[in-house]
Amino acid sequence: MRLIPEPSLRKRTTLRLGGKALAEVWIEKDQDWEQLPELVQDFGGTPLVLGRGSNVLAMDAELPFVLIRQEGGLSEFFQQRAGRGEAVVQGGQTLAGFLAECKRRGWSGLEGLIGIPGTVGGAVAMNAGSYGCTLGERLLGVQFWTAERGLFWLDAGQLRTGYRLFDPGIGEGFWVASKAKFAFAKSEPGKIHAKMREVYFHKKATQPILNRTCGCVFKNPKPGVSAGRLLDRCGLKGYRVGDMGFSERHANFLINHGQGRSTEALELIAVARERCRGQFGFELELEVKCISK
Ligand code: EPU
Repeated sequence: MRLIPEPSLRKRTTLRLGGKALAEVWIEKDQDWEQLPELVQDFGGTPLVLGRGSNVLAMDAELPFVLIRQEGGLSEFFQQRAGRGEAVVQGGQTLAGFLAECKRRGWSGLEGLIGIPGTVGGAVAMNAGSYGCTLGERLLGVQFWTAERGLFWLDAGQLRTGYRLFDPGIGEGFWVASKAKFAFAKSEPGKIHAKMREVYFHKKATQPILNRTCGCVFKNPKPGVSAGRLLDRCGLKGYRVGDMGFSERHANFLINHGQGRSTEALELIAVARERCRGQFGFELELEVKCISK
């Protein structure tokens, strides 16, 4: 286990916003979980799992959290049986690294997720999805950690997943997705590469994936209705407050143009909600995870 005092959220999130937390704990091996409750208690804060910080809007304030981070390391288990592939992956593994391994092996099913910058654990916990593909559809099971139960597995059938929804049904308490098991269809590396390339270039053309963003800010209010399209029609493409602004490319992305502040981001969110409510009658719900005191 590694411990880092006063970690800066600004340095740990893709939107580059946020003050300092109390501490950051890196889980390096299974035994480290056992020490976690006491450690969090010693710091007097609330535990908060942070993957790659790519779906996070953190406030520029002192944040009373102990950040829990997991080491990656590529999958410990890859096996092929009955024409399908199965993999158990560490929660801290980058999604990009995992998808590269799937491509190399010719395992198909998650190509649409290419270009999402998070970890496997984060993508599971948010049921990440794009281009007609969601992580939940490929899940066979998830290993969790909770203070009460330690490490334990639940089968996919015991989990509730939906659009940007993941509910393991283990109550309100703190939990971490420490590993996940997936099933894939067997295909060919060349085909998977071609599909990923197509998705990536489409994404790059329609979303600001090379800027400092936190992905989509709002959930789509109902199936087939794009929050980005609504915000675009409200005239918010490129709309700025200080150094924060909605993207010119896709209006559901906030961009930090350099010295952005969380208060500017909140102001933009309030303007977007108000306009969307006034113009279309939709109450936009945040998709990004807000980290505040
Ligand atoms: N559109 C506009 N203006 C905009 C943005 C979009 O007119 O500013 C139009 C597009 O031209 C298109 C339609 O709206 O006709 C839908 O756009 P897009 O394909 O980008 O899909 P989306 O519904 O806006 C969702 C996800 C994205 C995901 C894409 C592709 C949500 C909130 N967003 O966006 O996910 O990458 O589909 O599958 O569900 C994320 O979750 O962080 C995210 C980026």
